Amino acid sequence: MTALSRGRLRPEAVLETFELEMLGGQSERRYRKLRPEVEALPWGTLEKSRHQAGDLAEARGHWTVAAFQEQRTGAACAEAIRALLGCRAPIDLVGMACAFPLDEVVHVEMCARVAEELGGGTTIHYDPCQLAPVPDHDEPPLLQAAEMIVAAFCVGEAFSVPVLHGTWRAAKHPLLRGVLGVIVRDEAPHGAFGWTFLDWAGDALAQHRERLALIARLAIEEFTANHRAIARLPETDVGAELGWMEPTPYLALSRRAMADQVIAPLRKRGIDPYAPAVEAKLEEALDAGSGDVSLPSAIVAIG
Ligand SMILES: [Fe+2]
Ligand SMILES: [Fe+2]
Repeated sequence: MTALSRGRLRPEAVLETFELEMLGGQSERRYRKLRPEVEALPWGTLEKSRHQAGDLAEARGHWTVAAFQEQRTGAACAEAIRALLGCRAPIDLVGMACAFPLDEVVHVEMCARVAEELGGGTTIHYDPCQLAPVPDHDEPPLLQAAEMIVAAFCVGEAFSVPVLHGTWRAAKHPLLRGVLGVIVRDEAPHGAFGWTFLDWAGDALAQHRERLALIARLAIEEFTANHRAIARLPETDVGAELGWMEPTPYLALSRRAMADQVIAPLRKRGIDPYAPAVEAKLEEALDAGSGDVSLPSAIVAIG
C-alpha cells in the first residue's frame, strides 16, 4: 500500500530540529499586511508567574506541537494544491485552496509565539523530507488530488473545526482566545473544502472509493491514536488558562466530531472507512507505516 506515504521514519533520514525564523524588512511588512489581525492580538500578556512550573512546561510542549502540526498541515495543503492543478480542477476551487497555506503559516506563527511567551518552544526532531504525506506522482492526477484531500481535508480539517471551536470556547485568557479565534475563523472553509471537491469529482472517483476509504481510515487512526493516552490524563483546572480542553470534554467532543463531521459525510459519498474490505487491508497498511515518527502525546487540535 503506497497510496500515501505516511511519514515513515526512513533509516537514512537526517532529522532536523523544528525551529522558525522571520526574515523581517520588506517580506515581513508584506506578510503583516496580508494578516494585520495577528499583530493586533494582546501579545505579551501571558503571565508565567501565575502558573506552576510543571503546567508551564506542559503548555510549552502543547503549543510547540501545535505549531509543528500547523506546519505539517500547511505542507499538506500545498501538496493538495499541486495535485488540484495537475488534474485541472475548476479554477475557483483551486483559487480557494490557494488561500489555505497562508492561513496555516499564520497559525504556525501564532502557536510558536504563544510557546515563546510561555518560556520557549520545546524540542521536536523531524524528517524534513517527510513533513507531509505525498501521493504517488505516477498515479492519475485526479486520484492524487483525491488522496491528499480525503486525508488532509475530509478527515484532518473536518475533524479539527469542531475540536478547535470547543477549545476556543473553553479558553479564558484573552491572548489564547484571540489566537484560537483567528484559527477557528480560518478553519471553517478548510473544513468544508474536502466535501466540495468530492462532490465536484463525483463518479469520476467511483472505482477508487475503496482505496480512498482506506486512506480515510488511516488518517482517522492517526488522529485518534493518542485517545487512549489522553483518557489516562488527570483532569486539571489549568487548560482554560493555558489553551487546551480537559481530557473528558475533549474526548467526548472529538468522538462526536469524528462520527458526525468525518465518517457520516464520507459514507454519504460512498466512502466507508469502516467497511469490511477496509478492515481487511488495515493491518497490512498500518504495518507498512510502522515506525512513524511519534509525537509527544498531547491534546492537539490540528487544523
Ligand atoms: Fe491551521
Ligand atoms: Fe487548516
